[in-house]
Order: sequence, then structure tokens, then C-alpha cells
Amino acid sequence: MEEQVKKAADLLLKSRFTTAFTGAGISVESGIPPFRGNGGIWNKYDPRFLEIAYFMNHPKESWNVIKELFYDFFSSAKPNNAHFTLAEMEQKGLLGRIITQNIDNLHQEAGSKEVYEFHGNSKRLVCMGCQRIYPVPEISLDHLPPTCRQCGGLLKPDFVFFGEGIPQTALSASYEAASLSDVLIIIGTTGEVMPANQIPFMAKSAGCKIIEINVDQSNYTGSITDIFIKGEAGRIMEQLGVQLFTTSLDNDKDGVN
Ligand code: APR
Repeated sequence: MEEQVKKAADLLLKSRFTTAFTGAGISVESGIPPFRGNGGIWNKYDPRFLEIAYFMNHPKESWNVIKELFYDFFSSAKPNNAHFTLAEMEQKGLLGRIITQNIDNLHQEAGSKEVYEFHGNSKRLVCMGCQRIYPVPEISLDHLPPTCRQCGGLLKPDFVFFGEGIPQTALSASYEAASLSDVLIIIGTTGEVMPANQIPFMAKSAGCKIIEINVDQSNYTGSITDIFIKGEAGRIMEQLGVQLFTTSLDNDKDGVN
């Protein structure tokens, strides 16, 4: 595996523009379970509660599950080495942007600036009546469903429910990234969910090299992945960081950059 990490580092150091495409697997070492596979959320909870039609007709039942899942269990999760390494890569000019399917805000909390959230963010609530946005800490979740202080409308987490559209900013930033990246690093995703899962395929057809980090094979591994590094995201990204930041430091010292 060290050989693969070294190969990935060499590719990343030569890349003009690199994008990271992340999924639930990058946050597993932060204590947030994945949606599918061992211990997956959908093995325990019915995804119906996150369908927009169900939410609108049964807001209280839906909010009971949402509160337990996204606010009681996981809201205290902290970034892990994978998030921090991506943030340091951005600071050192080795990463252009992150397209994440995750709603946990851990990339931003690790210090990444250019983060595009394909499925929104659970740290904000939006009013279905007047579209006002509230940071979650401002709203009590003791009485469900929560309502808007301004218009009394139903508040919804600002993440994409099944049956909702993808935020336009994230969509355009992802399509742009797919067309201009030389390297795409895919971390911790099955590649199961449309339309997010198309981004790597679009990047590949635009000539992008694909590095993939996952504990298991995904929809990309046997098809478009050029360098597959099997293992936990936190551990692998820490090793990749050592390769990248030591090498780029040596280059700086020799005045190569
Ligand atoms: N390190 C790296 N990869 C991991 C780790 C880990 N420690 N643990 C699990 N994985 C991998 C799994 O092998 C799997 O490929 O992370 C992936 C998790 O897959 P999913 O749970 O399907 O997550 P994701 O691909 O992000 O799901 C996409 O589905 O339900 C929707 O909106 C939800 O954004 C989510 C979307």
C-alpha cells in the first residue's frame, strides 16, 4: 500500500488542479456511520423519513428520526486526519476544491475553504415558508417540528432530502471541477447515489486521473480508478500528507517551486 501512496503523492504534486470528491466513509473515523455496508444507517432507519413528500405530510414523525440521527447522535463529531490533510493540501496549493456528498460540515471545521456541498449541510435549518436560514444552535429541538420565528413556517434541515433538487452552486462547481481537474481524489463513497455519483465519470471522460481511497471496492474501483488505496481514510490520508508535505518542503528548500 505504501507504493500506491507514493504513486498518488507523485501524481498530486504534478497536478495543476486537483479536486477531492468525498462521501460518508471519510467521516466514519469521526464516529459518523456510513449509510450503506457494515453498520450502515439505512440498515437501521427507513430512508422514507428523509423523503421530501413524507416530511411535508408527517413533519413530526420525520423530525423525530432526523433529530435522533443527525442532532442527538452525530452533532458532536469532530474532523479526523483525512479532513485535516485535505485542508492542509488546500493551504499548500495542492488541492483546488472539495465536492462533498456529506452534510456533517467536517471539511469546513477542519479548515477547508473551497467546499461544495452536493447534499447541503445539517448545521443550518431553512424555513419552508419564508426561506429564512437559522444556524441549528439558535433553534430548540425540544418541541418538534420546529417552526420559524418570523412566519411560523415549518423548519427543515438545509440538506437535500430524497426527491429534492441539488443546490445549483454545488452542481455548477462540480461540473466545472470535472472538466478542469487533472486529478480527482475519491474518498469513502460507494458511488451509489445519482446524480452525485456521475462526477467522477465526467472527470474521467475529461482526461482526469483518479485516485481512490476506500476500505472496500466501489462502483469506481474496477472501472475508472487509476490508483486504488485500500484502507481507512484517516490513516491513508495521514500517510499521503507525510509524502506530500515532506516532498513539497524539500522542493521548496531546493527552490524548485
Ligand atoms: N475509510 C474510507 N472509506 C470508508 C471507511 C473508512 N474508514 N468506512 C467506510 N468506507 C466506505 C465504504 O466502503 C463505502 O464505500 O465509505 C463508503 C460509504 O458508502 P455510503 O454509506 O453509500 O456513503 P456515500 O457513498 O457517501 O452515500 C452517498 O447516499 O444516502 C445518501 O445522501 C446520502 O450522501 C449520501 C449518499
